[in-house]
Amino acid sequence: MASREVVKISDGQATEDGAGVSLIRYIGSPDLDHIDPFLLLDFFQSDNPDDYIAGFPPHPHRGFETVTYLLAGRVRHEDSTGRSGMLESGGVQWMTAGRGVIHSEMPEQEEGLLAGFQLWVNLPGRLKMSPPRYREFSKEEIPKEQREGGILLRVIAGKTHLGTQSPVEGVATNPLYLDVSLPGGITFYEPFKASMSAFVLVVEGRLIFSANDGISGVGQGQLALLGSGESVECSADEGGARFLLVAGEKIDEPIKRHGPFVMNTKEEIKNAILDFNSGRF
Ligand code: CO
Repeated sequence: MASREVVKISDGQATEDGAGVSLIRYIGSPDLDHIDPFLLLDFFQSDNPDDYIAGFPPHPHRGFETVTYLLAGRVRHEDSTGRSGMLESGGVQWMTAGRGVIHSEMPEQEEGLLAGFQLWVNLPGRLKMSPPRYREFSKEEIPKEQREGGILLRVIAGKTHLGTQSPVEGVATNPLYLDVSLPGGITFYEPFKASMSAFVLVVEGRLIFSANDGISGVGQGQLALLGSGESVECSADEGGARFLLVAGEKIDEPIKRHGPFVMNTKEEIKNAILDFNSGRF
């Protein structure tokens, strides 16, 4: 069985979004437009309130799902369906925007570390106008899997080959989203369908991929796009590593983007803008 090779490494791009939140954009940047079905991946991490305090005041989404995974800090969210809540360290919010939602995501802290990821997962055309849906899980509700050699996984979406299943179910692209802590010198192995797109983001340490002899590895803060194959097999340097492994089924449909709207055609984008401006979200 062939394990997946690293086919591209990206350092991401420092940018700002929302009302001026500093972040690194890995997917949805000039370097890496998308990894079907993933449209965007942002990483934010700062203990300087100036980098995050302005937050993300009310803004719309249509046509895809936003997945927020908070590593540190607290974020309050509110939306046009009347829902509100607090996302805390280790928590996950899986929001299916579908036909449209207006929400805000504001830091609930004036100092201290705020860190986390936001991933945008595309929806196939047949589901882009489906009703909005929220799923929210605290740190305690995200299942953990302990493997031999001290490997610890947090299963944010999907099911591992050892059977640990995330509470996030019924997602069109059947994603696997793992947060893996890997001790030095131990090999991590995870098989999943060869037809799925996959990438790894190294949060700490350095990863060496078995399929990439002679390549020095993927370092902290780097995203590695993986080629096709039947599994992912990698090991960490002496100090160990922490990384996200994300995979999903390709949608393979045209992508038309306009800021927070992602549809299949220009016409659908025009309708999204019209609907939003007419208060129909
Ligand atoms: Co948003």
